[in-house]
Order: sequence, then C-alpha cells, then structure tokens
Amino acid sequence: MVKQDNLLAKGAEASVFRGSFLQKPIVLKHRLPKSYRLPIIDQAIRSQRLRAEARIMTMAWRNRVRVPVLLGIDIDKQTLLIEEIKGKILFSLMSSKSVTELKSIFEDIGKQVGLLHKNDIIHGDLTVFNIIIINNKTSWLIDFGLGQISMEIEKKAEDLLTFYSTLKAISSEYQALFEKFQLGYLQLYEKGKKTFEHMKKIQSRARYIARKDRLE
Ligand SMILES: Nc1ncnc2c1ncn2[C@@H]1O[C@H](COP(=O)(O)OP(=O)(O)OP(=O)(O)O)[C@@H](O)[C@H]1O
Ligand SMILES: [Mg+2]
Repeated sequence: MVKQDNLLAKGAEASVFRGSFLQKPIVLKHRLPKSYRLPIIDQAIRSQRLRAEARIMTMAWRNRVRVPVLLGIDIDKQTLLIEEIKGKILFSLMSSKSVTELKSIFEDIGKQVGLLHKNDIIHGDLTVFNIIIINNKTSWLIDFGLGQISMEIEKKAEDLLTFYSTLKAISSEYQALFEKFQLGYLQLYEKGKKTFEHMKKIQSRARYIARKDRLE
C-alpha cells in the first residue's frame, strides 16, 4: 500500500523520500538517529518529536492553515507519511520572479502565518526553505519538526524574526516583501500588531547587546 521511491532531501534531522500511498503522491519523512545519544534515549526522544510534529501539523490543518495532510505515523520506523505538495520551495523561486509577483506571494504567506499564530501554533523554523509555493501563488507551510503550541508573544515574534532574517539574507527587496507579509498577517490576525512590536523589541535588544559587546 505504501511505496517508497527516491530520496528527495536529507537534512540534519530527517531524510525525506518520495513515495505513494493509495496511488497518491506522498513524502515519507524519517527522523534520523543521533549516534551521540544512548540508543534507548534516542528512540524515546525521536518518538516524542515525531508525535509532536504530527500533532502540530494536524492542529494547523484543523484550523485551515495550508499545510499538507498527515496521512499516517509509523512510530517503529520513525516515519511520517505526508501528502506531497507539488510546488517549488520559496527559496528557489525567489530569484526567478518579479517583485510584483513576489509581493502577492508574500501577502499570502503572511495570511498563513497569521492564521497559525491566531491559533497559538508556533512554527519554530519559519525559513524560506520551509514554505512551498504552488502555481506561483499559493503558499503551503511545511516542516513542523520544531513546532509547538504556545500563547507566548515571544515565541510568535521569534517566528517572524526568523522569517525576516532569512528573507533579508537572500533578497534586496526584503523590506517591501516583509511589508506585504505583515499586511497578510494582520488581515487574519488582528492582535498580530503586538507580535510585530515585540519582534522590533527583540531586534533592538539584540542591537543593544551587540553594541555593548563592541565597547567592552
Ligand atoms: N509535504 C511535502 N511535499 C513536498 N515536499 C516536501 C514535503 N515535505 C518535505 N518536503 C521536501 O523535503 C525537504 C525536507 O523536509 P523538511 O523541511 O520537512 O525536513 P528537514 O528540513 O530535513 O528537517 P530539519 O530542518 O529538521 O532537518 C523540504 O525542504 C522539501 O523539499
Ligand atoms: Mg526543512
């Protein structure tokens, strides 16, 4: 029933394979063992993370955030079976698209993240590598391996800061694109203004520490 094909990606934490399940394209995400941990402890930690990732993804899906459907979880094989999103990773799309096209994509991403945060779901690794774009317009959030449920504004602001920092590192248009992102975010999450204010606070805290370090 489940067929595993070629390796799609290998990260620090997981190997992702293409495959199929009931004739539908899926990805199989295997959480990799860490050799520096005692095997029994490693097994327990990986199971816990696997379950947490499954839970967060499902919760996001229930709240109508655009995330792939979780089709199954295999604790023995440390594997999640996930619907394949046939699109392009945001990072690889950035260089080939005009700013106008990117602006509307970023507004859409903002809506997805706003909806996530409105429901107190933290992504935990909101980089330009963990967003897939279909048909150059609709955004899907993937990789909830570091996700959590939290009402804390600090955690939500950290998601925004991660996104802002990876965007700034790859695009000279980061300000205009982040503005669009903010617009989308606020449309879906009215109280979200506070998250951006908090993000600025974290940034100035970091600047203050950096300046202090230079003077010492
Ligand atoms: N549902 C999906 N549909 C299509 N491609 C996917 C899907 N899930 C993952 N991928 C592909 O596999 C890659 C790695 O998956 P993912 O981001 O979930 O794990 P990871 O980055 O290896 O985890 P970590 O960052 O913890 O090491 C993605 O960048 C993407 O290319
Ligand atoms: Mg990833």
